[in-house]
Amino acid sequence: MELGLEKLRYWSETMSSREIDVLIGFDIRQIERNLLDAALKISPDANISGLGRALHDGNQTWIGLDERTLCTGYDELFKMFDIVGLENESCIIDLGAAYGRMGLVMQSLQPSAHYLGYEYVPERVEEGNRILKQFHCDNALLVTQDLFADSFQMPEADIYFIYEYGRIDHIKHTLEQVQEASFGRKVKLIVRGDSTNSMIYYHHPWIASVYKPRHEENFSVYSNYCNI
Ligand SMILES: C[S@@+](CC[C@H](N)C(=O)[O-])C[C@H]1O[C@@H](n2cnc3c(N)ncnc32)[C@H](O)[C@@H]1O
Repeated sequence: MELGLEKLRYWSETMSSREIDVLIGFDIRQIERNLLDAALKISPDANISGLGRALHDGNQTWIGLDERTLCTGYDELFKMFDIVGLENESCIIDLGAAYGRMGLVMQSLQPSAHYLGYEYVPERVEEGNRILKQFHCDNALLVTQDLFADSFQMPEADIYFIYEYGRIDHIKHTLEQVQEASFGRKVKLIVRGDSTNSMIYYHHPWIASVYKPRHEENFSVYSNYCNI
């Protein structure tokens, strides 16, 4: 019998995210190992914060980071969606998506919603899309994209997710684009990471100060139209 995603929430409560990745067929360890080897060849003395930059034109792609830190755990992704809620046609954009685990969680909860994940590293995009396709996630897609590219325009969405995706100046730019794309629209913003949260607190009152955000242990949720 073909493996489906109906049990993903149950698995997230009973297994580690790493075990789930293996069960559903992700090859994350090997891909990250290859990326690390390639980065070490270019810059043998670099540390964690330098390896991704060395391999990817100065972009902070977090090469060498343990996947438990690189990717948000499935249990936490379920918790995020429990808080923000998913409507039939909700459109979710993941800014710096890595392998797109969020797309799998969306599929298991609300397959008619839409997930679009932007990610700089093509190897991660390719692997994420392979798994999304394997589970027939027709409304979920990863795209290779530099979020800091001049040509990139932020699409409109109902829910944005940003987890400390890269360099501080890049995140700042992305948050400004999210603000622009959200003008006159109802949006929710899920944030992981202290730097991004403090940037929002200090520079984005449109989403941080009008309605009450919610702060969980590892992430925060903001909205420009309702208390969370
Ligand atoms: C910490 S991971 C988060 C992954 C995913 N959102 C999650 O929570 O599981 C951040 C991702 O952003 C990507 N990234 C870094 N700089 C980027 C850029 N300029 N454009 C697009 N993605 C970028 C990294 O390669 C990395 O995969």
